[in-house]
Amino acid sequence: GLGAAMVTAVALRTVAQRNNMERLLAPLRLSRTDLQRVQALMRQEMERGLDRERNAESSLRMLPTYVCHTPDGTERGKFLALDLGGTNFRVLVVHVAEDNIDITNEIYVIPTAVMQGTGEALFNHIMECIMDFQMKQELMDQVLPLGFTFSFPCQQLGLDKAVLLNWTKGFSASGCVGQDVVQMLREAAQRKQHTALKVVAVVNDTVGTMMACGYHDPKCEIGLIVGTGTNTCYMEERAKVGTMDGDEGRMCINMEWGAFGDNGCLDDFFTSFDRLVDEKSINAGKQKFEKLISGMYLGEIVRQILLALVEEQVLFCGKSSHKLQNRDIFQTKFLSTIETPGLALVQVQGILSNLELDASYEDSVLVREVCQTVSLRAAHLCAAGMAAVVEKMRESRGLEQLTVTVGVDGTLYKMHPHFSRNLQQMLQELAPLCNVTFLQSEDGSGKGAALVAAVACRGADPSSP
Ligand code: GLC
Repeated sequence: GLGAAMVTAVALRTVAQRNNMERLLAPLRLSRTDLQRVQALMRQEMERGLDRERNAESSLRMLPTYVCHTPDGTERGKFLALDLGGTNFRVLVVHVAEDNIDITNEIYVIPTAVMQGTGEALFNHIMECIMDFQMKQELMDQVLPLGFTFSFPCQQLGLDKAVLLNWTKGFSASGCVGQDVVQMLREAAQRKQHTALKVVAVVNDTVGTMMACGYHDPKCEIGLIVGTGTNTCYMEERAKVGTMDGDEGRMCINMEWGAFGDNGCLDDFFTSFDRLVDEKSINAGKQKFEKLISGMYLGEIVRQILLALVEEQVLFCGKSSHKLQNRDIFQTKFLSTIETPGLALVQVQGILSNLELDASYEDSVLVREVCQTVSLRAAHLCAAGMAAVVEKMRESRGLEQLTVTVGVDGTLYKMHPHFSRNLQQMLQELAPLCNVTFLQSEDGSGKGAALVAAVACRGADPSSP
């Protein structure tokens, strides 16, 4: 009868929708072979990036950091630390004592207009935050050594000299590329008649995280960030760093793996959604690996997929909303919520209704699947990259097996319900000869900057603490 025909029609529509959905999501599902290819490419780009003659061809900068040791536990002292480049800007005072590290910090917002204005205004703002902090903490008349966690690619000429190579993430302040960030900070201090800044070290957040975890676990020789951006550093044998003289001991290398693929080597893995996200970003064609993985972009990839699914009449009865047209309106933290195990689907509907989308129960199920697909791909790509790193370390050291700890930080890694498990499982499969433990850092950027500063101070004056 008519009833049965209608049921069949609905079922058929659902089957067609399913097929459409699968077709759209298929390019985002990476096979084991795909991931092995990404791993091999990462390895090849690492080798090139470290090669004296060929490093210009590599999309990985493989930057020497002038950090040659992880902490040995004898670091002591009281330090100022700055943390620029993550979700927030922070100023901290870090007290490294015999058996604990005590931290006090303030969070300051950097308005987008300041991130994307002039360098002078950006560093003025940073100085104002520092002075506010010193006032509140009554540190105005102490000259503490300062460690600066500056999470952007820098050519370091020493621990306290770091030339910005290019901005990444949401930053684009003018007049900074090619300048030493320590010098820019000093000049801002002069403009503010603040004379007592003693910058002793600039570190990338990956390095800070490795150092902070290394303080508790001597096996921690890798730092990983999966937050607004993504990046990794690791301890490499000096003999394998062709871009530097000397072959004794080790050097921590800031890979800047977010830029992996900027020479086109990952283009096969880019989907139409990824291309749209890239094209509409403030740095099109740059940070291609980062744009597949990090918090700044995952929500935007999901939004692009949702728009396509509406277009194909798969979602929301083919009806989009004005809100969904806005870039970055679908935040990455929504993925974390939507993928929370046991979450009631009405909560997914709630998130969607805030975006003025009228979602049925089935719509919510599909949206959750989109989120899962995007975050799983990110975790798996991250695993492929990490597999290349641990395998390279194992071979560099001539070991049958490597046991190593990765210090990790970043909002996506910490907040997402499945990212870390998916990363670890795939890494285990891609690098079976390596035994890798992940250790979440507590305030890695702050602690790490202080620990590097402590080592720097010891180097400068053996009599100081
Ligand atoms: C970006 C920066 C890099 C940083 C990472 C994580 O990729 O270029 O220096 O480590 O974000 O914050």
